[in-house]
Amino acid sequence: MKPLRKAVLPVAGLGTRFLPATKATAKEMLPVVDKPLIQYAVEEARAAGIEQFCMVTGRGKIGLVEHFDIAFELEATLRERGKDDVLKMLNEQALPPGSIASVRQQVPLGLGHAIWCARSFIGDDPFAILLPDDLVLSKTPCLKQLADAYQQTGGNVVAVTEVPHEQTNRYGILDIGRDDGRLVEVKGLVEKPDPKDAPSNLSIIGRYVLMPEVLQYLSKMERGAGNEVQLTDAMAKMIGKTPFHGLRYEGERFDCGDKVGYLEAQIAFALQRPDLSDAVRKFLVKYRE
Ligand code: G1P
Repeated sequence: MKPLRKAVLPVAGLGTRFLPATKATAKEMLPVVDKPLIQYAVEEARAAGIEQFCMVTGRGKIGLVEHFDIAFELEATLRERGKDDVLKMLNEQALPPGSIASVRQQVPLGLGHAIWCARSFIGDDPFAILLPDDLVLSKTPCLKQLADAYQQTGGNVVAVTEVPHEQTNRYGILDIGRDDGRLVEVKGLVEKPDPKDAPSNLSIIGRYVLMPEVLQYLSKMERGAGNEVQLTDAMAKMIGKTPFHGLRYEGERFDCGDKVGYLEAQIAFALQRPDLSDAVRKFLVKYRE
């Protein structure tokens, strides 16, 4: 079994739901407390043993790659001003040289197409996908939980959670086989089914560990829901050929692609911070109904 060392981060989306904030800034640069969404995703991946990253970007998104460069002038100024604590924090977060690559998705043809754009990076290795919009607050980083499940099952694993039945049309939904309460055998997958057709209410969130074979199916470029090349459809074709499981991860997921989900993430993450939690708790009382 090959070790999991690669991650793909699809970040080409326009972020129209957050206009005007995202007019000149990538939505993945929006901060939760004081850290951009993209950095949460990269740190979570590193905590799961990922060493190589590939961002699938588009026009106006290059700042996401630059965020991981060393800001030489900034560091020199911080040093001059004796801000050693800030410098230390930046240095601890720095990625080893050469660990970030990027490819361009010139046309917005869907998540499946975005992943296919990273095919040379993926090569013949298992790889993780993190959608930075989905933020997970958990004791063990969500991708680490998936990486452990990959060790155990030797195949594809996606992070899953139950959603209200009427919301199945927003997610990739599982048809469930054997289920031990944590690990679920995947019998089928449908992208954004109408609630009346949904095989369950167990939905995929933005964390995946996939085998490279998925690229063969993606390369067919078949259009699915929303006339897009859907990752879910290509994954569905692997069922029965390679082990495929859903993992009910431990933790809470915030949909930061949605305004309310994003605001909730701000509060939840701020409450985790020893330097902020008291002040935040205090002001929250003001807004109690
Ligand atoms: C994508 C996937 C979907 C998954 C979701 C998780 O949808 O296509 O299967 O459930 O991410 O956030 P999107 O949110 O890009 O429409």
